[in-house]
Amino acid sequence: MITKNLNEAIRVLNNNQLIAIPTETVYGLAGNALREKVVEKIFTLKNRPFYNPLIVHISSKDELTNIAKNIPNKANILAEKFWPGPLTLVLPKLDIVPNKVTANKNTVAVRVPNHSLSLQLLKEIDFPLAAPSANPFASISPTTPQHVENYFKDKLRLILDGGICKRGIESTIIGFDDDEPVLYRLGSLSIEQIELAVGKIKKLTKIDENKPQAPGMLSKHYAPKTPFYLIENIDLNSFLACDKNSKLGILRFQDFDKRFPTQFQEILSTTANLNEAAKNLYAAMHRLDAQQLDLILAEKLPEVGIGLTLNDKLRRAAQD
Ligand code: TXA
Ligand code: MG
Repeated sequence: MITKNLNEAIRVLNNNQLIAIPTETVYGLAGNALREKVVEKIFTLKNRPFYNPLIVHISSKDELTNIAKNIPNKANILAEKFWPGPLTLVLPKLDIVPNKVTANKNTVAVRVPNHSLSLQLLKEIDFPLAAPSANPFASISPTTPQHVENYFKDKLRLILDGGICKRGIESTIIGFDDDEPVLYRLGSLSIEQIELAVGKIKKLTKIDENKPQAPGMLSKHYAPKTPFYLIENIDLNSFLACDKNSKLGILRFQDFDKRFPTQFQEILSTTANLNEAAKNLYAAMHRLDAQQLDLILAEKLPEVGIGLTLNDKLRRAAQD
């Protein structure tokens, strides 16, 4: 059921059931973060491997010390500046946080989402919410209530309707190494903005695919069911000369590719605005994926600001 009824959402959560919540980034599949049995339901419904930890959502920075400890100075600065907002901080956890949430790590990922309905919800319940994106493992993240409903149908009791997600891309995740910030996952908040607040941050270079710091880093992720390719280095003309029969979908930044029918094309921002492109990206991928196409070709976006994040998501969606 898709509803705006906050009291009903609270009732379901207090009953140890799951709901979907709106955030400014993507919809989350939420349950009581302090109850192991509830947390297990999240993993089961998403078909998510237990080694992949969840983000805990709180209503304000004041609640941070209820779940995390030894908070570095730069974490406080970032939380002060960007919460509520699309930034997740990975910090040493307190015992109250079940090991299921953190996949047995001694750190917990935390954020305050910037969505009035979910903030109100978080204020009215007396526990934080564990919430991964509300999609089955490794599929495209949901940015509308309908996306969530299409995925889970009657397996999910309630979807709290907060409209279309304003940012449209997951939060940026920052961890700490000797109190210095490290980028774990590219997201809605650009590195430039973070570095303006706390100076240069470390970027992880070598990633162990079997034990990712943040599984948003797994190379295959956010993938449509339709074969998906990023037009990065291939010459489209010679590609098309070899393959004349395929029904193609095209994902482009600013304008249509005149060689193809417009009904199978998605344009992310006619004004070439990367924030608008971010907001539209997943919905465009969902629509193309629903069209029974043979393959989808995506154009690479400008490599600046959040464009870096968008290209990262596109590469992960693409086939190897
Ligand atoms: O915008 C978002 O972050 C959305 C909304 C719903 O808040 N949530 C989201 O959750 O994207 P999910 O589960 O799809 O991604 C959570 C990421 C995973 O890559 C996970 O590995 C990482 O957070 N993570 C969680 N706890 C961690 C920890 N202790 N250390 C490192 N990474 C962690
Ligand atoms: Mg996800």
